[in-house]
Amino acid sequence: MSRVHLLEVADAEELSRRAAEEFVRRAHGRRFSVALAGGSTPRRLYQLLADAPYREQVNWTQVEFFFGDERTVPPDHADSNFRMANEALLAQLDLPDRQIHRMAGERDDLDAAATEYANEIGKVLGGTPPAFDLVLLGMGRDGHTASLFPGTAALSERRRWVVPNLVPQLDTRRLTLTVPILNHAACLLFLVAGAEKREALAAVLEGPRAPERFPSQLIRPEHGELLWLVDRAAAAGLSEAMKETLR
Ligand code: 6PG
Repeated sequence: MSRVHLLEVADAEELSRRAAEEFVRRAHGRRFSVALAGGSTPRRLYQLLADAPYREQVNWTQVEFFFGDERTVPPDHADSNFRMANEALLAQLDLPDRQIHRMAGERDDLDAAATEYANEIGKVLGGTPPAFDLVLLGMGRDGHTASLFPGTAALSERRRWVVPNLVPQLDTRRLTLTVPILNHAACLLFLVAGAEKREALAAVLEGPRAPERFPSQLIRPEHGELLWLVDRAAAAGLSEAMKETLR
């Protein structure tokens, strides 16, 4: 039985601090697998985790870092989710490469890159599908999450754990984890901040079920926990009843 909660906080800074607390609470003292979110919202969270007081609360040698999605650019490109996470956190931890599992978005053969990444997840985590301890997710103003964009083929993938996804609205392709592996996670943590997310958050949480239009509605953990960590600006479109239900 999954458990869904929503926590509203004042602003993006408090959201990042609460997310850091959730991270260390789960990662504390044991082997721990996490799929990192891309975009801009999680950067501050990653910076916080790299410093006191959070850094010393995690045994980083036990953490396996994965990614929820990646752009089709080299790892040193300004748009790379890996680059963002590496600069904000991973490079500060000075970990062996074997703990950092990067999606090879730069590959010409994205299908092979997706298959190889799925195999790597399976090898490190085991299980079918493997269960991440924690998946960090952002949400776009169109209701997408990871690289599961409205109206795209990856939304309906129920066999593969990682796929290339053509995103016509961005005139690009992405690599992304899919619904089956995302929903098998022990904990999914959405980080949603800013007034520009208001309409999408209300549509995802309180609107009619329309996952093709609002793919974040597809995120429903089979057995784990789903926590929506949102700031006041993003939550302004939610009813008090909804907030109460998910408190
Ligand atoms: C990406 C992310 C994407 C992101 C949302 C929100 O590669 O861009 O995986 O799903 O989380 O677009 O992005 P912001 O945090 O920048 O608003």
